[in-house]
Amino acid sequence: MAPIPKRGTVAVTGAAGFLGGWVVHLLLDKGYRVRACVRNAEDPLRTTFLKEMPGYASGRLTLHSADLDQPGCFDEIFKGCHGVAHVSHVSDYNDADYVARVCGHVIDSVNNSGSVTRVVVTSSIAAVISEADIHEVVRRPVFYEDRFPDEMNPRRTPERGQGYSMAKLIAERAFAEAAEKSGAWDAITCCPGDNVGPIQSAHQKDMGPWQHNIEMMLEGAYDQNLVYRPWMTVDVRDDAECHIRLLESVNVKNGERYIAWSTDARNVEDICADIDRLLPELRHATPQVTDPFPDRIKAREAEFRGIWAGAELRNDRIRAVTGVTFRPLDDSIRDCVESLLSIAKVQPVVRPVVEAAA
Ligand SMILES: NC(=O)c1ccc[n+]([C@@H]2O[C@H](COP(=O)([O-])OP(=O)(O)OC[C@H]3O[C@@H](n4cnc5c(N)ncnc54)[C@H](OP(=O)(O)O)[C@@H]3O)[C@@H](O)[C@H]2O)c1
Repeated sequence: MAPIPKRGTVAVTGAAGFLGGWVVHLLLDKGYRVRACVRNAEDPLRTTFLKEMPGYASGRLTLHSADLDQPGCFDEIFKGCHGVAHVSHVSDYNDADYVARVCGHVIDSVNNSGSVTRVVVTSSIAAVISEADIHEVVRRPVFYEDRFPDEMNPRRTPERGQGYSMAKLIAERAFAEAAEKSGAWDAITCCPGDNVGPIQSAHQKDMGPWQHNIEMMLEGAYDQNLVYRPWMTVDVRDDAECHIRLLESVNVKNGERYIAWSTDARNVEDICADIDRLLPELRHATPQVTDPFPDRIKAREAEFRGIWAGAELRNDRIRAVTGVTFRPLDDSIRDCVESLLSIAKVQPVVRPVVEAAA
């Protein structure tokens, strides 16, 4: 039950992903040894960007194939590691038994390692605010770590879209209980907001979903966000920094959860318009938002927007225990757009150049 030593060895699950890739990148920058866990280390589309990181050439970064659906998948990889950043998705968020089972696979490998003293588990703000009854947001509008969705609501079911939120809470609790039982390691949960920022590999443009939404904006068509919720954002690089600082922190205890977001919230149509404001040289032809919701939801747009406007986003705790500072959303949008253009070769829709009159 201890923070990891500076420049120790850390395993990262989901290392080919948007967030996991940045956790790897920043760990290397800070001098750590990193074991990047991907499903297929031989897949060039998903792993070349990792192999191009300078630490790979020296052997400070190693890649490992592991599918968390397989028991024992991380046994050999975690041996000798001081910490684990368990960032990866699971294959199915709607099956609670499956989710508990694969948490068990990771936990068993941590227990078997004989060396891991801290695990940071990536959860989500969905485990803080995903409500089956939107008026719960009115009743409890302060979004902070002790807030949980109303778990007693009978409409909180995977069939009604709550599977992701439910699964994240299953994972948070499974890791905290296992760590408590072990006494040899502790589990800290990180609940990130909506990640925006630069991709590092072309395949990440389709993931997210937030960078994929920005890709769609660039290409000329994008959708309204669910129940008109503004994006509640964190830069992906700051999110990765939070994960690392939680691994290192002497101020956290087993079972605690920390929300990683800047507290910047912005409507999706404003984010789309921001592309032209931030990068006028691009001459982005700002598209109109498509509202795909049924009429009964559309009729309540003003009500929903009012509810979200009353929400209060807090990040006091993670700033207090880690000292992290969050960069402004404008920087995240700009860097996301530039990475989509330069790395994924996204072709934006642009306004025609107007010739100046003679
Ligand atoms: N993006 C956000 O805005 C956001 C917000 C809140 C929370 N989160 C959480 O942050 C974490 C990372 O999100 P992300 O956006 O970076 O996701 P991502 O880009 O889709 O990456 C997730 C990674 O999970 C791995 N994965 C999926 N199923 C797996 C399995 N059965 N075994 C092993 N690996 C598996 C994939 O590995 P391969 O590529 O090797 O196949 C993938 O690279 C997730 O836990 C997510 O719930 C994300």
